[in-house]
Amino acid sequence: KSPVYILAIESSCDDTAAAVLMDNKVLSNVVARQSVHEEYGGVVPELASRAHQQNIVPVIDVALKKARVEKAQISAVAFTQGPGLMGSLLVGSSFAKSLAMALNVPLIAVNHMHAHILAHFIDEENYDKPEFPFLAMTISGGHTQIVRVDSFFDMTIIGETTDDAVGEAFDKSAKILGLPYPGGPLVDKYAQTGNPKAYPFTKPKVDGLDFSFSGLKTQILYFIQKNVAQDPDFIEKNIEDICASIQYTIIQILMDKLKMAVKETGIKQVAIGGGVSANSGIRNTLKEAEQKYGWKTFIPKFEYTTDNAAMIGIVGYHKFLENQFNDASVVSKARIEF
Ligand code: KG4
Ligand code: ZN
Repeated sequence: KSPVYILAIESSCDDTAAAVLMDNKVLSNVVARQSVHEEYGGVVPELASRAHQQNIVPVIDVALKKARVEKAQISAVAFTQGPGLMGSLLVGSSFAKSLAMALNVPLIAVNHMHAHILAHFIDEENYDKPEFPFLAMTISGGHTQIVRVDSFFDMTIIGETTDDAVGEAFDKSAKILGLPYPGGPLVDKYAQTGNPKAYPFTKPKVDGLDFSFSGLKTQILYFIQKNVAQDPDFIEKNIEDICASIQYTIIQILMDKLKMAVKETGIKQVAIGGGVSANSGIRNTLKEAEQKYGWKTFIPKFEYTTDNAAMIGIVGYHKFLENQFNDASVVSKARIEF
């Protein structure tokens, strides 16, 4: 059947998302963000599931309308199986199962972390796709991984965080500074006009390609407490420099490990994915690495970095081509082996 139309659903955390793909092209990519978590300073799982329940039907309707695709044209329904919040995942998977059954089309379960990586294979004008093998660094609010990607379905984690994810490092630092959740984009914003060397924070010592961010968070907390004790306006006066210094340290931590991974594997194609790859500092540093180290880097379009359903759809498309389907007994998984 050609072309292939995939309807994709993503509901692993606090964004309800749906997309329609025609082969490897995105026809629509809709995200309903949940603002209810802001006042709690983090995602409240129970509230997330309820909001998914409210949003999922309208979000899918809008995705189909924008794509100008009728339900009857859909070739398969793809959804996020995990990892993520169980209550959130269940809303997406139950809906996907019911829809696939009603339309009598195949069901495709997708690993969210694979999707952040394979988002690079969405067909976009002026966007080169990586060639296998390549290295992918997935940096989000829930994960920090360096993955060796040998083919669409052959991926190996070669490094990961031993504690907090890098997105948490951004968000928790922002929280210490009194910024609202999620603080990552705000740290990025202030950092742009600050001096990254104003406050030197120390990088953790972690073996091999693994990461650790909890020490940095503690370091920042003590640093802020000490300075605020001396000057209650310390944060306000120095917010740009503080954010620039935090961001600089985090980027150094990521780049040190990436450089090590390139050295160990001999692979010079480096792709990033996940919400934190929206960070302007990381984007600039990676671009510089092309000249500095001769890497070829791949940075997805902004809308494909944070959680979205187009990335679920592209995995769905490649699974469809290989007849990798699931039956309705497939279960959601909060944690999922790679
Ligand atoms: O991939 P994502 O949307 O959701 C997860 O799967 O976690 O990533 C969300 C994370 C949050 O921690 C958010 O603060 C961070 O990505 N983030 C950023 C930026 N934009 C989003 N962190 C730093 N700079 C940004 N510009
Ligand atoms: Zn994600």
